[in-house]
Amino acid sequence: MADKWDGPCWFIPGPTWLTPAVLEGLAQSTMTHRSPEFKVVMAELHGRLRHSFALSPTTIEKGQQSHEGEDGYSVVVVSGSGTAAMEMIIANRFDFEDKVLVPTNGKFGERVAQICNNFTQVTHLKGEWGREFDLDEIDTMLSSKQFNAIAICHNETSSGITQDAEEIGKIANKHGVSYILDGITSVGGLPVHPDSWNAEAVVVGGQKCTAGPSGISAVAISESYVQKMIENREKNETLPIYYLDLVQALKKAADDQTPWTPAINLCTGWVAALREQDEEGIENRWERCEMLAKGVRSLFTEIGFELFADEKQRSNTVTAILYPEPEWGEKWRRWMAIEKNTHIIGGQDHVKGRIFRVGSMGVTSREEMIEGCKRMIEGFKHFGMKIPKIDVESHFR
Ligand SMILES: Cc1ncc(COP(=O)(O)O)c(C=O)c1O
Repeated sequence: MADKWDGPCWFIPGPTWLTPAVLEGLAQSTMTHRSPEFKVVMAELHGRLRHSFALSPTTIEKGQQSHEGEDGYSVVVVSGSGTAAMEMIIANRFDFEDKVLVPTNGKFGERVAQICNNFTQVTHLKGEWGREFDLDEIDTMLSSKQFNAIAICHNETSSGITQDAEEIGKIANKHGVSYILDGITSVGGLPVHPDSWNAEAVVVGGQKCTAGPSGISAVAISESYVQKMIENREKNETLPIYYLDLVQALKKAADDQTPWTPAINLCTGWVAALREQDEEGIENRWERCEMLAKGVRSLFTEIGFELFADEKQRSNTVTAILYPEPEWGEKWRRWMAIEKNTHIIGGQDHVKGRIFRVGSMGVTSREEMIEGCKRMIEGFKHFGMKIPKIDVESHFR
């Protein structure tokens, strides 16, 4: 029998719950970003982020190039949320002549297309939210040889779908195009393999699966990305970047520094979160997220709810569920927060009021999820639903 959880149930798919260790990590006294103390922090951040990205391990010692591994990938920390890091990898790598294909099935993929639209010639293959990509269509489009790159949102938080990143990587490789991923809610919570997928660049957000603070993010970039970025810089005297200059950031990362004053206390907080990630082990974390998401899916399906995303690609870090009664769905969600201290997020844009989303990322435990699901069921009963007695625990084994 699991211990009963009596605290808040926090199922927001980022920002995730910050543990006491992370809060303590955030509360470090002032240090300057050019000090040896800060280099210690950055080196550890680099080394541990490599585990989140499932890259070849390096070290967490300062002055040892912990950002760059034998696999040729480098990690660079960005003082800004995931969107800043996405903009950074697009703006530095491409110019306005470059043609980028962006298939989408949710809000964050659409945001990738918008970012690309500001810096490249984008073809936005806009699909329905939550529906799988048509890989044959992507293959055919890339075979036209018109495209330099394909960029996707790997784990579409808005609709609860995870793209088949490995297959898309194979298609990208076959056609010799660069492969870019928004891994903001996949890295650290789902298996992501930049190296074997031959991804040129992948982004993670601190506040998502790594259970770190908001407002900080990181990129993992391949040797080929770096080469293309430098060629781009040589070809274009001016590019519309300054703060997000990745050439500068990479140079400074090699010395465990950043070009400008970074979000110092977010770095110390993130290190604390990544220590917890490493204590658990990244693969164990992937498995926990999977166990939690599978439980949520099977429980709500048994109760009779419909899941929003296509069956084969439902995300293990966020589950999107259709409200049985859209009329009171959002009232239920607010009631859950106020009366039950249980926090769930609603839908965005055109699915606002139609779906709710249950995050299973960060440090959410089995006990918290079981208790949260019981509270959600109580909440649905409060709003008049007839739900037969159900063995919630049995869904989370
Ligand atoms: C998949 C995905 N991409 C991008 C973003 C935007 O990230 P941020 O808010 O950290 O800029 C989010 C935020 O929820 C996300 O889930």
